[in-house]
Amino acid sequence: MERSGFIHRFEKGQPEKRALLLLHGTGGDENDLIPLARRIAPTASLLSPRGKVLEDGMPRFFRRLAEGVFDEDDVRQRANELADFVANARTRYGIASPIAMGYSNGANIAAAMLLLRPSELAGAILLRAMPPLAHPQPVKLDGMPILIVSGARDPIVRPESAAKLASLLERYGAEVEHRVIPAGHELSQANVALAQSWWNKQAPNS
Ligand code: MLT
Repeated sequence: MERSGFIHRFEKGQPEKRALLLLHGTGGDENDLIPLARRIAPTASLLSPRGKVLEDGMPRFFRRLAEGVFDEDDVRQRANELADFVANARTRYGIASPIAMGYSNGANIAAAMLLLRPSELAGAILLRAMPPLAHPQPVKLDGMPILIVSGARDPIVRPESAAKLASLLERYGAEVEHRVIPAGHELSQANVALAQSWWNKQAPNS
């Protein structure tokens, strides 16, 4: 596997349609978000890598020092590596720059990509996200569509933390919709409904 290679699944959609980049949570893998993605975007192409960092055997997308405390050098390196993988996959599979859909740790690496390599993404659905970097450099996100969904009772990623990420991304020019639903850290039907209607606004009929 080349340096920027990831174990991944690719499911081809209709060629002219937009693709989703699926980024699982801690302990997940490339299969986890496929059923959810198929409900949100039935005909889109799906690119779903497995995180390469292992925490007690559980795949993740970057190292952390404790829950919610990130190794920021690793966040930077891994976000760039993932962006390289996406760039290569676009050529290999003939897809447009994808909208990322990440859950928890996957949402955090997607947020890091937005802050470090925004040109590789066309937007993002961030489910249970928080700021991945304490002091990111300003970046141009002009009009980038981003949906952030937080759980009001989430003990791992507080909605206030997601709100900080939302204002940061807005300050850099993104079109952010931040919704807080009555849920915890787990994903529920309300996430699907919100993500579906947001997706249909970005990519009608896909
Ligand atoms: C993270 O490490 O990205 C966050 O703490 C969320 C998690 O994966 O538990």
